[in-house]
Amino acid sequence: MISFPGELIEQLRGAQHIAILTGAGTSAESGVPTFRDGQSGLWAQYNPQELATPFAFQTNPQLVWDWYQWRRELIAQVSPNPGHFALAEMQAIFHHITLISQNVDGLHQRAGSQNVIELHGNILRDKCFNCDAAFKAAPPAKKSIPRCPRCGGLARPDVVWFGESLDSDKLNLAWEAAQNCDVFLSIGTSTVVQPAASLPVNAGENGAVLIEINPQPTPVTRLAAYVLQGPSGEILPQLLDKIAN
Ligand code: OAD
Repeated sequence: MISFPGELIEQLRGAQHIAILTGAGTSAESGVPTFRDGQSGLWAQYNPQELATPFAFQTNPQLVWDWYQWRRELIAQVSPNPGHFALAEMQAIFHHITLISQNVDGLHQRAGSQNVIELHGNILRDKCFNCDAAFKAAPPAKKSIPRCPRCGGLARPDVVWFGESLDSDKLNLAWEAAQNCDVFLSIGTSTVVQPAASLPVNAGENGAVLIEINPQPTPVTRLAAYVLQGPSGEILPQLLDKIAN
């Protein structure tokens, strides 16, 4: 059993608005690889410039498609972990929780979370590379790249690639939450990718109590009022239990 500081529990219980930012570490215990965890991280094995940029897709669409189909297959086979479920339950207890995620795997929603702000999109949707029209993703087994029903352009996953802008409506909602919350939790993210990495910093500068949950230190660690070092799938259910009882 983790022993949480009493003040941390009181601050969570008394919060009017809690903002939460999650990253790949939140899904690690479900079996979805993170991007930057040493040798097991995706970016240690694959070059993002060859797989996650518009130029990569233009140059070799089939290679990019195959890689995302492989990730879709992997995600289809895993389930939300206790950390995802604890966050969904927290949303049910505290009415004003804004859940912002960099994850594209849809596991928060599968655990029951509502209104997730998916800053980097969702791998379970496709969109047209040409005209941007969104449509349901092809099944993971589909090897040939589908065509847009509207303009005939090639389908691509509806995720944000390096060099692309985030959806401005989603980003505005995230900024608003960071600026107005009284508690901000940064969970399972290395906080090195902008603009998401600035959200906890901004929240802290606006007076929010900053809490980090991560087994490893990040640039946010030194700014956080509380650092809960460990896996979110273990820490979040215990934290929920403590604040709810
Ligand atoms: P990263 O892979 O950069 O960081 C994952 C973080 O999760 C690290 O800080 C780990 O220490 C932590 N971690 C690992 N296991 C954990 C666990 N069980 N519980 C809690 N934390 C754990 O992933 P992100 O920060 O999400 O963007 O990466 C941000 C963005 O970079 C991604 O959305 C993706 C990537 O390139 C795009 O594809 C646009």
